[in-house]
Amino acid sequence: MKKPVTLAEFGILQGTGVAMWCDLFPSGRILGLDIDLGHINGNMANLTALGAFTRNRPELHEYDQFLDDDASIGRILAGAKIDIAIDDGFHSTESIMKTLESARPHLADEFVYFAEDNGHVHQEIQSRYPEFFIDHAGDLTVITRRRQIPLSVRI
Ligand SMILES: C[S@@+](CC[C@H](N)C(=O)[O-])C[C@H]1O[C@@H](n2cnc3c(N)ncnc32)[C@H](O)[C@@H]1O
Repeated sequence: MKKPVTLAEFGILQGTGVAMWCDLFPSGRILGLDIDLGHINGNMANLTALGAFTRNRPELHEYDQFLDDDASIGRILAGAKIDIAIDDGFHSTESIMKTLESARPHLADEFVYFAEDNGHVHQEIQSRYPEFFIDHAGDLTVITRRRQIPLSVRI
């Protein structure tokens, strides 16, 4: 039987992304991580009034992408593994590499990891993690453990 998805979005701003993930994955665990949760906390009532979060609610956590912090991610996950990660945070090569390094021990056997808005980081990811498959198009990098990912998660 397929398990519910665990999805982590780094950089959530006002929460439109996590609102969408909650709709798409009503049985999933949706983690929203950001250095400043003020934006989403100030927008939750608005999102709710617009109809968000009727099917699922996100877990929100303060997180700084510039820290080497796999311990925090481990504590948040409490034994779960990340099936889908979206890095839409600070967008620098340093922050993307630090976030990937911290999340790496917690990635599911079959995962897909999106790093947004950086057109060069794919080269550094490929050289640091030659075992991963890296696709990139423009400013988007997509990382998987295998060439084809039959994501075994329930929607
Ligand atoms: C492009 S916005 C995210 C947009 C959001 N994903 C969406 O779809 O609506 C970037 C976010 O990254 C966060 N951010 C900036 N620096 C950060 C850091 N060092 N660690 C974690 N989050 C950071 C900002 O607070 C902001 O909310």
